[in-house]
Amino acid sequence: MEKFLGKKISTAVFISGRGSNLKSLINFSKKKKSPIKIDLVISNNPEAKGLTYAKKSKIKFFIYNFKDPSLSEKKILNKLKIFQIKLICLAGFMRILSVKFIKKFNYPILNIHPSLLPKYKGIHTHIRVLKNKEKLSGSTVHLVNSKLDSGKIILQKKVRILNSDNVKSLEKKILKIEHKLYPKAISIFLSNL
Ligand code: GRF
Repeated sequence: MEKFLGKKISTAVFISGRGSNLKSLINFSKKKKSPIKIDLVISNNPEAKGLTYAKKSKIKFFIYNFKDPSLSEKKILNKLKIFQIKLICLAGFMRILSVKFIKKFNYPILNIHPSLLPKYKGIHTHIRVLKNKEKLSGSTVHLVNSKLDSGKIILQKKVRILNSDNVKSLEKKILKIEHKLYPKAISIFLSNL
């Protein structure tokens, strides 16, 4: 991948729902010092609330239903090529991308996961963390590889869990740190290429 030399990297963000991380990435991308510009948003869910942020910022978005995952992935790869995308940021995207897709895209794919990886891969993270009476949780930005939530870790941030915490309060706490963590991790990752 060519080094980031002052030119913003053309980025696609993949979402499935609320899109609060998309919102924070859009705000980040608009800063002069940001290494990315968001040219494309992809969703598997036409109802994703996050799509309103793409609309507001006039970012092109496309929806693929993944009924036939390999067909959807093929169409997405085509769009990524047309938009000359050089970086994908998964932000609450609830589909697992195939190895074929990852190989064919041939540029970095980042993901943000709401736990201190390698602990608590997969879904229902907060429920499992609270059940195990953990004292700490957090969020991790990592590279996507062929195994779920297992690629190289770029950056993590911890949050303390209080006795009074529940799934909702923990989710809120973690989302708050994610909105700073993802932009920071992207900057670190791209400056190290
Ligand atoms: C975030 O907690 C992220 O870590 C996880 O899914 C959630 C997405 O939230 N992968 P949002 O859609 O960005 O608000």
